[in-house]
Amino acid sequence: MEAIKAPKGTYDVLGSESWKWARVVNTARSVAEDFGFKEAILPIFEHTELFSRGIGDATDVVEKEMYTFTDRGGRSITLRPELTASMMRSYLENGLNHGPQPVKLWGWGPMFRYERPQKGRNRQFAQIDFEILGVSSPFADIETIDSSMEIYRRLGLSNLQVLINSVGCPKCRPNYRETLKKFFESRLGDLCETCRERFDRNPLRILDCKKTECGKLTDSAPPVIDSLCDECGEHFRTVERGLAKLGADVRVDNKLVRGLDYYTKTAYEILSGDLGAQNAVCGGGRYDNLAEAIGGPEVPGVGFASGIERIVITMEAQGVFMGGEPQTEVFVISTAGSEYAASLLVHELRAKGIASDMNFTARSIKAQMKYASQRGAKFVCIIGEDEMSSGSATVKNMSDGSQETTPRDLATAKILSWKEALAK
Ligand code: HAM
Repeated sequence: MEAIKAPKGTYDVLGSESWKWARVVNTARSVAEDFGFKEAILPIFEHTELFSRGIGDATDVVEKEMYTFTDRGGRSITLRPELTASMMRSYLENGLNHGPQPVKLWGWGPMFRYERPQKGRNRQFAQIDFEILGVSSPFADIETIDSSMEIYRRLGLSNLQVLINSVGCPKCRPNYRETLKKFFESRLGDLCETCRERFDRNPLRILDCKKTECGKLTDSAPPVIDSLCDECGEHFRTVERGLAKLGADVRVDNKLVRGLDYYTKTAYEILSGDLGAQNAVCGGGRYDNLAEAIGGPEVPGVGFASGIERIVITMEAQGVFMGGEPQTEVFVISTAGSEYAASLLVHELRAKGIASDMNFTARSIKAQMKYASQRGAKFVCIIGEDEMSSGSATVKNMSDGSQETTPRDLATAKILSWKEALAK
């Protein structure tokens, strides 16, 4: 029988990699705390309608990429492709809109999209997501971009470019759609097949097409900024000015429209110069009509999501993983009859905050020594037959091979003093 493998577009994050994820998530958590975002742990699956209405029926995510199934109760269920719609659902369902505003939420976890896998693009991937709900101030937009940049700054990342644009609002977007349609009407033959389909349904998405033939054309398309209503125009200028004051490296990109229908006004992406084709490390924007689309009252919101895999790839490319994978500091070697003593010693070492491990298998002291060195242990404690009879432990410093036999109840103090000496 053939061995079962992980499904295409998924992969296992094991010890040599998962500590990097932990560093990213812990950094996001520290930024969230400093910026006043509270963690929200939400379901991984939701009613399909949340996404079809929230993200939009005509988007690639809803049309082609969702993992949807009927559960045993006959409900249509979807594995979440993103977090924003769930955050808004949770905010409304829990009546957070009736409390003080804004409500700042953050979360992280796996998302699911049936996409063509490649470097930085998976079918199961993880996002960090920050949302500010209940306020329409452009300074909230600025704060979300600032909080994402702060995560990257704390992680030591550089070579990032913030792109911003506005996609207008229901008042001014119809005019822009018409302007764009007029522009593309006489040039339909030059567009790719997908964009010809987009022409009627969602002409703004043509601007986002990565195909060369469409790119040439969209370069000269009329920019949305010229079609914004006064309110959207003022909002956009405030965001632009505010980001400049924070010293962010920001460029206005007239072609940035994003692939989810809920966006209004601000849309942004942060690109990494070290990612290759899938170069967006972060995507976000304002979504003032999402709450109504999912059956709620009018609630403004703004936020971003950043892919953990893409952050890790960028960190690796930039060599900013400091310290390396956490290692066992002390390995306790035992022989038949000394297991209780070994178990007590690791217990005491761990209580002093020293990462320790012990032997669990019947193997020679030499084999255990080899294992300890493979594990990268800085020190070993040997409790063999001699040590058992004399109530001692032999403590060995793996870096210079020096060793000393001490009364067993002083072994932890000995390791601590050696550890401190090593840190100096
Ligand atoms: P998004 O642009 O679809 O936006 O995704 C945000 C980020 O998630 C991307 O920039 C990328 O880093 C990562 N990402 C997306 N798809 C994949 C994939 N297949 N494999 C690996 N990484 C991926 C959203 O999801 C919105 N909910 C963002 C948002 C929050 N807007 C407002 N608030």
